[in-house]
Amino acid sequence: MASKSGGFSVRGLREWLEAPVAEGGNAGRTPLDALRGAAARITTPLLPDDYLHLVNPLWSARELRGRIVEVRKETADSATLVIKPGWGFDFKFAPGQYIGIGVLVEGRWHWRSYSLTCPPDWTGDATNKGRRLISIAVKAMPEGFLSSHIVSGVPEGTIVRLAAPQGGFVLPDPAPSKVLFLTAGSGITPVMAMLRTMDRRDAVPDVLHVHSARTPDDVMFGDELRELHDRRPGFTAHLHLTGENGKFALADLDTVCPDWRERETWACGPLPMLDEIEKHWAAAGIGDRLHVERFEIERNATAEGGTVTFAKAGRTAEVDGATTLLQAGESAGVQMPFGCRMGICQTCVVTVTGGHVRDLRNGKEHRAGDKIQTCISAAAGDCTLEV
Ligand code: FES
Repeated sequence: MASKSGGFSVRGLREWLEAPVAEGGNAGRTPLDALRGAAARITTPLLPDDYLHLVNPLWSARELRGRIVEVRKETADSATLVIKPGWGFDFKFAPGQYIGIGVLVEGRWHWRSYSLTCPPDWTGDATNKGRRLISIAVKAMPEGFLSSHIVSGVPEGTIVRLAAPQGGFVLPDPAPSKVLFLTAGSGITPVMAMLRTMDRRDAVPDVLHVHSARTPDDVMFGDELRELHDRRPGFTAHLHLTGENGKFALADLDTVCPDWRERETWACGPLPMLDEIEKHWAAAGIGDRLHVERFEIERNATAEGGTVTFAKAGRTAEVDGATTLLQAGESAGVQMPFGCRMGICQTCVVTVTGGHVRDLRNGKEHRAGDKIQTCISAAAGDCTLEV
């Protein structure tokens, strides 16, 4: 119940102070939001970000920001970004969660979601003087414009936008006594946050990690996995090289990890691998012990494309049928809500107010009045969205 005194509402004051930040659309509001909102109120009607940005580019009353402080190559086509978040970032995320990151390239903000690879409340090494940091790891994808841009040399010092940590693929605290990680390629990234968290807590239970990569040079965090394997009696890393041995056969689990049915399992990697794992676990009657994280949308349908009108923003975009409505809005400079960008979290849901859009996963068509997930939908002709 809100505390009141002579008609003065503390909750009301707080909501008034936080409103500018809430309007900015950032999920994961924190007590610092009141402070950031107050800055907006004090400097209104002039834009508060104009003042704050002059003092420190990481300060914003309306959005989460961060500065890239280090770019570290992991393999030929992947890199770790170490980021110093600005005001309002919640460092109490759960290991395994992801963040949204927006990077300005040629005048346009490009957004993607990436798993955090650091433990919560991480401060990096001693040279960082205790400032709290976060890290993500990015693998360049052939068709991924932003991932290639990041890996091939986003400069240190770049200011990025951030969306708050979220996601349900997380390690509980305390961790289960027997854990199995099944990862492939960049699917290792959320698991690295889990491993680093357990190591930092000095609480590494019985953990077996089966990781697949094409060659030894393609293994992200290979040295760190080896070092952890040697140092922590509870941790076993099992590397499977697909270039030499083909893909890992789940039937081999009975040899590599005879007690796999007793373990709480986290799996992350390409879609076909995850589909197989889900079937294998379901057939064993232990689907409830399996946690899965997907990095890609399973596209089984196409759309025609068209002109998308973003009614509230007063903007339009001409798009083809492969471009999601989320990407269309972002490319038109519309502040689109989003989270996972994979059709899971529902953060991106908006209402169609005209025309037709299609779900790229199953081909289902939606019309005016329907609520749709913009991250997995495309324009089936001209359409209008209430955003
Ligand atoms: S962003 Fe998560 S469902 Fe669309």
